[in-house]
Amino acid sequence: MIRKCLFPAAGYGTRFLPATKAMPKEMMPILDKPLIQYGVEEALKAGMNQIGIVTGRGKRAIADHFDISYELEHQISGTAKEGKLSGIRHLIDHCTFSYTRQTEMKGLGHAILTGETLIGAETFGVILADDLCVGEPDTVMSQMVRLYEKHQACIIAIEEVPMDEVHKYGVIDGVEIEDGVYKLNGMVEKPAADEAPSNLAIIGRYILMPEIFDVLRTTAPGKNGELQITDALATMAKQGKVLGLKFRGKRFDCGSVNGFVEATNYFFSQMEEED
Ligand code: UTP
Repeated sequence: MIRKCLFPAAGYGTRFLPATKAMPKEMMPILDKPLIQYGVEEALKAGMNQIGIVTGRGKRAIADHFDISYELEHQISGTAKEGKLSGIRHLIDHCTFSYTRQTEMKGLGHAILTGETLIGAETFGVILADDLCVGEPDTVMSQMVRLYEKHQACIIAIEEVPMDEVHKYGVIDGVEIEDGVYKLNGMVEKPAADEAPSNLAIIGRYILMPEIFDVLRTTAPGKNGELQITDALATMAKQGKVLGLKFRGKRFDCGSVNGFVEATNYFFSQMEEED
């Protein structure tokens, strides 16, 4: 049973400036719901109800969002708007939220290592809230949990991307061992197209075993001088401990303007279909 899910949310979100100058990227809404709320919903559906969030400066709105607002609830109680807070209230009632701060932005690997204090010695999920995922039929994290239960290995979500986009992602080198499941030999962070081992890109969902923290501690800074989770996972892959799952569903890169607009259009069309 995986109970904990870590949300690294300390990044600056420079691709979305000026919107992210004073507002956390994770609080940007797709329709009426912030990105991180979609992520926590996905974690809870996968059975993870202990939520750990790695924050940084200017991210207080995230902690306020996952707290009860008595004044607001009182204000709308008994009105047609009452239901508007039921989704977030459900999360607050069913999850615990813990926070730690990454004081220097030294990369995703460093953010995950900072989260060790919230995780301890257990297997945990990681969700990057700006990768918004819609699983078919189960959430992407639920699909990953099923694979973890079968193999007890680190699981990373992967998706095919066009070759001219591999330089934006961590890319895997692996062998397909069952339908959509790859045993990884290695992976490369943001390779040039002619150096990429495949066009299977790592997206923002991971299940990590606690040994990852020791590996991260001994991993040297990589691309851009940042501690890369990809480099630590490459070490674990050499020991045969990492699987890639080509998940069923869609992913929107909401850290980019194009992906954000696509996600908005997708969720809006879904909402219109439901009405
Ligand atoms: P990104 O590569 O998307 O970086 O980080 P970013 O700063 O959020 O956004 P841009 O590229 O400047 O627009 C991937 C994830 O890792 C987290 C981010 O919050 C995001 O969820 N992260 C990254 C950290 O928590 N700490 C870091 O030092 C770096």
